Amino acid sequence: MGKLYEDSHIEINGLVAKHYSRILNLITLGRYKRIIKRFVDDMNIVPEDRIIDFGAGSGYNECFMIKYLSLKGRIVGLDIGEDMIKKFKKVCKKYPNVKIYKKRIDIPLNFENKYDKALISFVLHGLPHKNRIQVLKNANRALKKNKRLYIFDYAKFNLEKLPFYIKIPFKMIECKYAFEYIEKDWKKIIKDTGFKFVRKKYYYKNIVSMMIFEKYS
Ligand SMILES: C[S@@+](CC[C@H](N)C(=O)[O-])C[C@H]1O[C@@H](n2cnc3c(N)ncnc32)[C@H](O)[C@@H]1O
Repeated sequence: MGKLYEDSHIEINGLVAKHYSRILNLITLGRYKRIIKRFVDDMNIVPEDRIIDFGAGSGYNECFMIKYLSLKGRIVGLDIGEDMIKKFKKVCKKYPNVKIYKKRIDIPLNFENKYDKALISFVLHGLPHKNRIQVLKNANRALKKNKRLYIFDYAKFNLEKLPFYIKIPFKMIECKYAFEYIEKDWKKIIKDTGFKFVRKKYYYKNIVSMMIFEKYS
């Protein structure tokens, strides 16, 4: 399959997919594991939760989420990247209640009111805006009423004011969509797709945040 979005860097393949967490660990100066552990702790996962992960990637986040689940809980990941899916399957093969499916997340999906938690981690920033909205609508449909959406991604920041060791990798790695993502009012955009804002937490020098929303419709 060719690239879905020619001018985006969000589809990850080849060596980058194979060594994704190692690369992120380098970029975050050895802090990647700690950052992921903290945001997963903040999701307040309970043993029987059914979690859907949009753009699940390498399965790294799953290795932290699974620690909170009993065998009655489950995680379903969706992704389109062949190499990311391969990596996910390898990393998660010891967990019978963690599965990944090859599926586009930015077209209408039919997961109706089945899940207790929906995670979108480092995906929205790399998509064209109308595709982001469709992902959010899918997350809304997937969740049971009053259940929560977790968006772990870049926070709003002034790129020029960041330290050079963050500014330079951001400018080298990210595509044009990420530059406009950090400028937008996400609280308002997500509220408009059928969610109520719950809270926001910051990580890694306030460059990354997790926004928590609750489905009300
Ligand atoms: C930057 S990675 C993040 C992976 C993971 N969520 C994490 O936090 O480590 C973005 C992921 O989104 C997937 N992705 C991008 N566009 C997608 C789409 N339209 N449908 C499904 N997956 C998509 C990519 O294949 C990739 O695995």
